[in-house]
Order: sequence, then structure tokens, then C-alpha cells
Amino acid sequence: MTLVSSTPMLQEARKSGYGIVAFNVHSFDMLYSVAEAAAEIDAPVIIQTTVGTVQNLGPDSIVKTALAASEKYDIPMALHLDHCTDLEVIIQCIRAGYTSVMIDASMYPFEENVRLTNQVMDIAKHIDINVEAELGKVGGVEDNIVVSEKNAEKAVPTECKEFIHRTGVPTLAPAIGTAHGIYSGDPDIDFDRIEEIANLVDEPLVLHGGSAIPEDDVKQCILLGMAKMNVSTELKNAYSEAIKEHFSEMPDSLDPRKYLAKAKNVAKELAKKKMILVGAAGKASEIKGKAFPNRYKLDSVRV
Ligand code: 13P
Repeated sequence: MTLVSSTPMLQEARKSGYGIVAFNVHSFDMLYSVAEAAAEIDAPVIIQTTVGTVQNLGPDSIVKTALAASEKYDIPMALHLDHCTDLEVIIQCIRAGYTSVMIDASMYPFEENVRLTNQVMDIAKHIDINVEAELGKVGGVEDNIVVSEKNAEKAVPTECKEFIHRTGVPTLAPAIGTAHGIYSGDPDIDFDRIEEIANLVDEPLVLHGGSAIPEDDVKQCILLGMAKMNVSTELKNAYSEAIKEHFSEMPDSLDPRKYLAKAKNVAKELAKKKMILVGAAGKASEIKGKAFPNRYKLDSVRV
């Protein structure tokens, strides 16, 4: 199967009350750990990269690797650009073959967020890709986007409805109390707000800051309408800790295949756990016929 837009798989997930996990990967090896995990439990999956990773690995190489993985494992897989504030990078990724992009204009006032999101929608509506936008401000650190606790701000439900109406954006990430990174205590998730938003809009909602949220809270978010859960920090930390552990046991180790194999396995098991938690296991075969292939002519994208 080729890379697909995440829109139909997320719509299906929201309709059916389960979630799809989007994992931030920082290397090709991590990309394969996630793909393998999804294949082993028959789950649809979203691979996502930050702008930093796009700059580090290059969008063409990321697309080629994700495409190869989606074909090898034959599961519905989307490739998403996470938290991007720069239209040039968004266009670069779309041209390379990303099947989903996030325009993060949440740091601007509502009207400016609408305007910038519409710029991306103007490109995306001609091709078969997903677009995600954010309302309110999710706290914490994600790549070079830093939002202090003081500046974090929850999304206003009526604005979510108006925003979707005025942009047509197919997926929305409303800030509801989670944050990027590991929490010092339990997150203070505003479930009433999620419910209120979900009652006003039919579109799949996105839960940012998916690392280290208590399992019951994750399940409740999904049941209320959060169809996509982003996980970055936990995966990155588990992968890195496995490498650190390998070297503390075998400081003279010089074979990347050995220390990477261990890290890859740890990341794979964590990814499986997260996908099982949101109810995605077994859903890949179910939605295969519904998620449509995303092939389009690169020259049809006008910049
Ligand atoms: P975490 O780093 O908390 O998992 O957040 C991931 C995220 O929301 C990426 O957009």
C-alpha cells in the first residue's frame, strides 16, 4: 500500500470511537520501528516529523523511506509534517510527497490563524492531503516551539466551530490542558471542554502532548472525539535510554547494528502499547479499502 492521506482514516476513527497514534520520528530507524509495530498489530499509523527533522534528514529521503515502509508492511500509513509555522517548508514537504501537514498559527490572534490556515487550505484542497491546525496554545516544548505554562491557553469551543467553518480544515488540535513533554504531575485535562468542542464539530480532533498521559485519561479523550494522539517525547526518550543502557553495559561496543537493534525494539514495543491503548489494533485491515491512495502529479501543486 502507498502512503495515504490521514483524513479518511481519522474520520473513520472518530466515527467508530477509536484513535490513531501519530509518532514523531527523528531517524529512519525510528520510522521503521513504528512501521513494524503498526504492522505487527494491524494498526493504521501516522508517521510525523518536526521541521527540525525535515531539515536534518531532508523531505525527499523521509518520503522515500516512509513510502518504502508503507509498501513493505502493507498498512494504511500517512506521513505528516508536525507544527510548522513556515509556508515554504509546508510547500516543500507537500511537493516531496507528505500526505498531511500542520500549519501551526496558534501563536497569532484568531483572525490571523484563520488567514494563514486558509493559505495552506488553498493548496491542499487541490490535492489529496490532510491539513491540521491548532486553536488555543498547547504548552511545553516541541522542537523550536516553546510555550510556557503561563502562556498556554485552552481553545474556545465556539471558536473551534467558527474556525472549521471558515477554513474547512479537516482536523483540528484544540488545546485542552495537555502539554508537550513529560508532566511533573498528572495533566489537568479539561474533559468538559473536549466534549463541548466535539458536540459542535464532526471533524476528528487531535490530542497533542500524548506522552505520559495516564491510560484512563487517554481512553476518555479518545471516546470524547480525539481521533489522533501525538506521541513524541516518550518514544524519543525510550529509544535514547536503550542506547545509553547498551553503552553502560558494553562501553566498548562499536557495532551500530547491535545498539540500534535494542533501541529499535524498545521503541517498537512502546509504539505497540500506545496503539493498543487507543484501540487502533486490528483496524488496518478494516479501513484498507476506505483509505484511498495518495498519488498526484507534483506539477499540479502551484507554489
Ligand atoms: P509529546 O512530546 O508530549 O509526546 O507531544 C507530542 C506532540 O504533541 C507533537 O506534536
